[in-house]
Amino acid sequence: MLTVDRFARPLRSLRISVTDRCNLRCQYCMPEPEYVWLPRESLLTFEETTALVDAFASVGVDRVRITGGEPLLRRNLPELIEQLAARPLLADLSLTTNGVLLREHAAALRAAGLHRITISLDTLREDRFREIARFDELPAVLAGIDAAARAGFASLKIDSVVLRNRNDDELVPLLEFGRSVGAEVRFIEYMDVGGATRWSPDAVVSRQEILARVGAVYGAIEPLGGRASAPAERFRLPDGTTFGIIASTTEPFCAACDRSRLTADGLWLLCLYARGGVDLRRPLREGATGEEIARLITTVWSMRADRGAEERLGAGAREPLIPLAALKRDAHLEMHTRGG
Ligand code: GTP
Ligand code: 5AD
Ligand code: SF4
Repeated sequence: MLTVDRFARPLRSLRISVTDRCNLRCQYCMPEPEYVWLPRESLLTFEETTALVDAFASVGVDRVRITGGEPLLRRNLPELIEQLAARPLLADLSLTTNGVLLREHAAALRAAGLHRITISLDTLREDRFREIARFDELPAVLAGIDAAARAGFASLKIDSVVLRNRNDDELVPLLEFGRSVGAEVRFIEYMDVGGATRWSPDAVVSRQEILARVGAVYGAIEPLGGRASAPAERFRLPDGTTFGIIASTTEPFCAACDRSRLTADGLWLLCLYARGGVDLRRPLREGATGEEIARLITTVWSMRADRGAEERLGAGAREPLIPLAALKRDAHLEMHTRGG
């Protein structure tokens, strides 16, 4: 069954945040000294999560990505992966992690049936890692990437948010590193999402600029096409290395968006930029059946008309999306709660 919204966009991909906690404090995501966390009793159990996934799958979702915060902070995560991997309707099961705990978990995640893994890595320099992520964890992340490369995942990706004057001189070293570990690197434009309270237009390095800088070193860059609904546009260098760019800020891709997200406490958010969502935990805990929840999902999705990143682009002068005071009142507005 295919569910489409008001722009004929199908609901295909669900990003599930399994915790709002994180063991890093990346400047573009969690720059503040303190955060208000979701109450523990509000977190969905694995049983509740899989019940919701079954409802989503019954109305067309066939791709699931596990996110956080940092998803490896969720205890017994491989158990959830194993339960999801056993769902025949899910064609794709992936995970986005910061890699800090990956060395100890990579093999178990693969054994549990996880297909693909994406690791965030913005710099290869220890001093910069400390500046950007504010913990001294680069060696752990590199060990995690190495473990993932050896665990035999179907694909390995590295996501790098490019920040002006912080890591924008590392495009080539990151590409070379990606090639050396068999991972495809994707450069991400810095986005003015909720939680990015230090965002400013000057700090954004655009897709166009990234291409120019990479091209100046490697020569002609070939666009690969075949993007469909993926946020990343893919390219090939003359030496055959492929990489991606996610240009949410300067060239948004809302028209092809087939994604929505579920927070760890069961709030269903459609757009990354959405101010609010639909509470699915409450009907679930009140005993709603799978069919009832599936009906709620299709009703909400069929009315969907948001295209947050495009609206931001059209808005002219830009500053951080959500003021700090509003973030303090509602953690659901934070990128680290909605999982990117
Ligand atoms: P693949 O399935 O491997 O293509 O992954 P993906 O690119 O969908 O997911 P990933 O978690 O690697 O996403 C990378 C980044 O893309 C996220 O951290 C966000 O910065 C951005 N992104 C993902 N989904 C959306 C979206 O719906 N809208 C916007 N504007 N950006 C998104
Ligand atoms: N801009 C772009 N990407 C962001 N992420 C978090 N905050 C931002 C932001 N302000 C994404 C990064 C990171 C993932 C976990 O979330 O891709 O790798
Ligand atoms: Fe960094 Fe990801 Fe943690 Fe945000 S959730 S602080 S991007 S590691």
